[in-house]
Amino acid sequence: MEEKITISVIKADVGGLCGHTEAPEELLDVCDCILEEAVDEILIDYYVTRCGDDINLIMTHKLGVDNEKVHGLAWRAFEEATKVAKELKLYGAGQDLLAEAFSGNVRGMGPGCAEMEFVERPSEPVIVFCCDKTDPSAFNLPLYKIFADPFNTAGLVYDKSMIGGFKFDVLDIIDNKQVTLKAPEESYQLLALIGNLEKYCIKRVYRAKDNEIAAVVSSEKLNLIAGKYIGKDDPVAIVRAQSGMPAVGEILEPFANPHLVPGWMRGSHWGPLMPVSEDDARPTRFDGPPRIMALGFQLSNGRLIGPNDLFDDVAFKRAREKALKMADMIRSMGPFQPHRLPETMLEYTTVPEIMKELKGRFVEVEKKK
Ligand code: F6R
Ligand code: MG
Ligand code: MG
Repeated sequence: MEEKITISVIKADVGGLCGHTEAPEELLDVCDCILEEAVDEILIDYYVTRCGDDINLIMTHKLGVDNEKVHGLAWRAFEEATKVAKELKLYGAGQDLLAEAFSGNVRGMGPGCAEMEFVERPSEPVIVFCCDKTDPSAFNLPLYKIFADPFNTAGLVYDKSMIGGFKFDVLDIIDNKQVTLKAPEESYQLLALIGNLEKYCIKRVYRAKDNEIAAVVSSEKLNLIAGKYIGKDDPVAIVRAQSGMPAVGEILEPFANPHLVPGWMRGSHWGPLMPVSEDDARPTRFDGPPRIMALGFQLSNGRLIGPNDLFDDVAFKRAREKALKMADMIRSMGPFQPHRLPETMLEYTTVPEIMKELKGRFVEVEKKK
């Protein structure tokens, strides 16, 4: 049995400078120190970064997914970062740590988490995507394109490892159910579900011929966990590339044509997902527009070689310009749909209170005989 490596990306927003713009270096340094101490004992390697106000801990180890030691370590890093965030009176200090104390794993406790375990191939390219000001369903469209659309991924036609298609675990985030659908055979059923960003999000993708894990998304819904709005879910995803998986360029291709995602200001607006470099992942305009960054690594016996900041390239300049044009266009709608999210997706809403106040002022309208 060949030994398996796990890559775990655990993220949380524990404070911003200023407002919800960016997690500052001070917080990243604290996380770095905590993870550094755990190398050899728990981790093989790690990389700490941030996308907007979210800290992303990218970690490799041999302990499998949902491991208590790894999750406990991430929790401790976020707790220590929270202490500094509180000292500096950063905005929203500790906001994503919903529980008082760590218990077993971070699921349901606030932080988002994407993990996969596999036998490292002779050469193992992986891409870690980190987003800010959007939610996990932002990955539905690009993952469909990457793993089910031959107009995006030429390898679906030309690589015999992929011609058998891919399987998608689709999560119903409202009713807490999951279904697995296979493309290309069930691609219409798949689209019927994942085109609805209110209810469904892709959790995992597997290569059909051997069930090899290909992609995973953090799918925690903070507001559903906490029962109230306490921040957006700002997802992360891990995607394996090359040698029988989509090529790096096929994985990046969907982001050359920005799509509209839920999130942005107050987690309550549709906005274009703008692909940016690590340095440009600082949402400002109307707290956005929503951003995504892509860090490419090669694994070497679990060591993270890299990252290569993949959207830091002229090839994505036009996508950024297009996203900004889309932003101008949709911003002009202000509080009107379709800029504003539908009622069920609003993270902040005053509508129930307004309805309470106006209750007595609504009068029946006579029906036509
Ligand atoms: C969206 C986000 C921000 C805040 C907005 C208001 O995910 O984090 O757009 O919703 O800045 O924040 P508060 O209510 O903290 O003043
Ligand atoms: Mg925030
Ligand atoms: Mg955020």
